Amino acid sequence: MSFFGLSEVQRQKMEKERETHRSFENKELRVRVVTTSDRDTDEVLLLKTKCLFQKQLSKMPREYILRQVFDSKHMNMVLVNKGDDVVGGVCYRPFFEEGFVEIVFLAVDYDFQVRGMGSVMMDIFKENIKREMVEYSGMAVDRVLGAVAYRNKEFDGLDHFLSMAGDGVQRPLYIVTYADNFAIGYFRKQGFSSDLRFSRWIGLIKDYEGGTIVECRVFWEINYLRRREFIGRIRERVFRDMERVNEYHVVRRIADYSTVKEIGDIPGVRSVSPQPQCRGSLNKLISYLISDLRSNPSAWPFLKPVDAAEVPDYYEHIKRPMDLSTMQSKLEDNRYPSIEPFVEDVRLMVDNCFRYNGRDTQYYKCAQKLLDNFNSKLEFYIHAINRFSS
Ligand code: COA
Repeated sequence: MSFFGLSEVQRQKMEKERETHRSFENKELRVRVVTTSDRDTDEVLLLKTKCLFQKQLSKMPREYILRQVFDSKHMNMVLVNKGDDVVGGVCYRPFFEEGFVEIVFLAVDYDFQVRGMGSVMMDIFKENIKREMVEYSGMAVDRVLGAVAYRNKEFDGLDHFLSMAGDGVQRPLYIVTYADNFAIGYFRKQGFSSDLRFSRWIGLIKDYEGGTIVECRVFWEINYLRRREFIGRIRERVFRDMERVNEYHVVRRIADYSTVKEIGDIPGVRSVSPQPQCRGSLNKLISYLISDLRSNPSAWPFLKPVDAAEVPDYYEHIKRPMDLSTMQSKLEDNRYPSIEPFVEDVRLMVDNCFRYNGRDTQYYKCAQKLLDNFNSKLEFYIHAINRFSS
């Protein structure tokens, strides 16, 4: 398979990841899920897991780690080598009814760090909790344990996890954790964010000092062990479409620099820039700006008009409501003759939010982020905008 636009660094990462996958295929490494919820548990493996966390999370009290690893409500997904030594592990608590899993501890043994093991472990973990959510959701509570009785499992190779995608989209599933501030970069690389959208964990998980709460949505449509191929296919499609639309791939040379007096004199610029006095181009630009706003992670409160049934007093305070779907309809009805009324609507939407919500609310923060992003986009496109207006 060819990968358009993949850098050398990305290729190297892919190779590193493949090597780790091969260690599972060659049976040098195995995945085990172990929990005291299973009465027939492997206590030696649990002790080894506890030792790993103790070694890698040296600031955590030992007794505390012991209690968490041996808690029957918790499970431990552990990567072990041929000698059953623990190479990496995740201690987690499932809240499948609420649609999330809390990571309590996560660590890779020092000797295996910085080789992509942590990243592969997270991919396996995501596939593992999908499997468990399907298996355990709605299961009856064990009368002795007072919770769902989870079972120990052992997996040779990765086949079981590779077959997970395409099993049908289930309910939304999130991972939530208090990330140690030293490890926040690792969690970001694994798709975690401190911009929280999911809130059902509130009141259910413990607070940790010195940590930042982060969340990650687990997508059923993606098999995380094949995520690079998945991204590669999408990348390939995007670049192919771009070749057709704007010839981005054609390299044009400037033979004589003295002929370049303005930006449009640079070969290629004129053919890809929207042409002035073209009404269609203005609509295209506004349409692009709306879809860019919509796809922003902070846009969720602004996608549709505020529902008066959910926020009964909203329309008492906000007399000129605005949202992104209304802007889209106005655009389709040709009600933006120039860029200014559109920009006014974006600012109105954000101002309404500032006026109705307190500074500490998620809504206020989302509005601020959306506005900052919009302003920088506007600045970027100001040349094109001026051409439409002139
Ligand atoms: N800060 C910033 N980025 C980090 C990082 C850190 N502490 N640790 C790893 N990364 C990045 C890597 O650079 C890599 O990025 P890349 O994909 O761009 O190359 C990516 O995260 C994956 O790295 P990987 O080599 O797979 O991770 P690892 O095997 O070294 O494991 C930890 C990462 C965090 C699990 C491991 O360092 C560890 O066990 N730390 C101690 C325990 C801990 O802090 N756990 C988390 C809180 S419970």
